[in-house]
Amino acid sequence: MPQPTRQFESRAGAVCIFESPGQACEAAADRIAAVLLSAARASRKAVLGLATGSTPIAVYKRLVEQHRHGALSFSHVHTYNLDEFYPISPTDPNSYRAYMQRHLFDHVGIPPNQTHVLDGTVPERAVAEHCQQFERWMEADGGLDLQLLGIGRNGHIGFNEPCDLPLEEALCLRTRLVSLHPVTTADAAKDFGGSQERVPRHALTLGVAPILAARSILILALGRNKTEAVARALEGNPNAELPASLLQTVAAKVRWYLDEEAAAALR
Ligand code: GLP
Repeated sequence: MPQPTRQFESRAGAVCIFESPGQACEAAADRIAAVLLSAARASRKAVLGLATGSTPIAVYKRLVEQHRHGALSFSHVHTYNLDEFYPISPTDPNSYRAYMQRHLFDHVGIPPNQTHVLDGTVPERAVAEHCQQFERWMEADGGLDLQLLGIGRNGHIGFNEPCDLPLEEALCLRTRLVSLHPVTTADAAKDFGGSQERVPRHALTLGVAPILAARSILILALGRNKTEAVARALEGNPNAELPASLLQTVAAKVRWYLDEEAAAALR
């Protein structure tokens, strides 16, 4: 297991800085594998909250390798994804359902009925009920053992975008339909043929409250695009303008895995 070159406690949780993005991803995969193995040893299900984006691709790659080598079973794993574009079909290659199939689910023998991704095809009148139902399913599965998170360049977690809500209200945000921030649609454009116009304007996202309710949270941030958001999340006051800073309210169960570039502005 790769070792961090530096680690310390911050007001937003434990911080581990790795020499390279690859090492940070390997360490994240090993942490997820540890959760799976400990649940298997106790004959329990493992319940994971999963993230998409470019950052966790190498994490899923390593988990797939471990599965192929026979070291990791997914038969007892139940997954809940953070978010999904809206509207979008699960068969659209840019949907997060398609991403999860491509990078993980299709390669690890996980029973399909144990993978949950918010459905970008539900009619708008049924969205609120679908989002409540998603949270009920998570609770019925016993809640998340581990939530894997990335961070947006604007500090978003899931698709909880920067907003001006008071702290107490931001912490209560539930799973819901949201409008995407211009920084988010600009960053997503590369996956939509380079055109920001083609990126859906809306998304479904797990709310701040169910994210923070996970029993442990692993947030992975890599590269210089994330330097500023990471520094603000770890060193600024917790506030809804920088959603990742809300992790400060549950710091005891949060771990940040960073590479040197993402950590470059930390004091
Ligand atoms: C995306 C996802 C987030 C992700 C973030 C960072 O839009 N909704 O869950 O963590 O933005 O993405 P990337 O890893 O590609 O930088």
